[in-house]
Amino acid sequence: MGFVRFGSLRRITPIAPIWPPRYKAAVDRVYIDGFLEREAMSIQGEVLEVGGLGYTNRFGGDRVTAGSVLHSPIGASPEVTYAADLVDAPEIPSEHFDCVILPQTLLFIYDLQPAVRTLHRILRPGGVVLATVPGITQTVPDDKERWGQYWSFTDQSLGRLFGDVFGPDRVTIESHGNVKTTIALLHGLAKEDLNARDFALDDPHYPLTLTVKAVRAEATP
Ligand SMILES: C[S@@+](CC[C@H](N)C(=O)[O-])C[C@H]1O[C@@H](n2cnc3c(N)ncnc32)[C@H](O)[C@@H]1O
Repeated sequence: MGFVRFGSLRRITPIAPIWPPRYKAAVDRVYIDGFLEREAMSIQGEVLEVGGLGYTNRFGGDRVTAGSVLHSPIGASPEVTYAADLVDAPEIPSEHFDCVILPQTLLFIYDLQPAVRTLHRILRPGGVVLATVPGITQTVPDDKERWGQYWSFTDQSLGRLFGDVFGPDRVTIESHGNVKTTIALLHGLAKEDLNARDFALDDPHYPLTLTVKAVRAEATP
């Protein structure tokens, strides 16, 4: 390959350590926010969001009739609607939600298949889950300690995980990222450290953020 000028990348420690976070908006938020903005029309009716109602309020607007918050029983505040483990969550009603927003959550759940079956169960027929997961990533000390950080994904593992439960034809997977945005994320940089051109290419060999839209089948008459 010859001569490479490493410049700022010569160091063997990250430019900005992952914890505590230096910025609110890490590089992967560009992909997460962009996905949920593009899918805004699915954010409607009864919506369940993990962690808070940030995306529900931002992209659902007047289409949302009710918003509920899901949080792991570990570290949940009294204000959350459901302090429940998605792996086994009988307290969340079946066939209830039009949309479930699940950003950056499945990596913290060891038993993925039962968690995805719960997502399918709690959606109304025709309801939609919008989820994002990391592909190439570092681990996050605080989250890892609280819930355990078990998984990074590829388009294939995410496609099979949801396809096995929802049916392959009801699942759409996207892979976002490229070598530059991936290096930036691993160094703890924020979207402000990059510019719009850096996000122009999604290289399938560098999955930084993967997204899944899965639609529960309509009830058959
Ligand atoms: C990093 S936060 C992601 C949500 C955040 N609002 C975001 O946009 O990134 C991780 C979330 O995973 C949830 N979580 C972790 N383990 C879970 C489990 N077994 N069942 C349900 N939620 C879980 C936590 O409650 C937390 O809200």
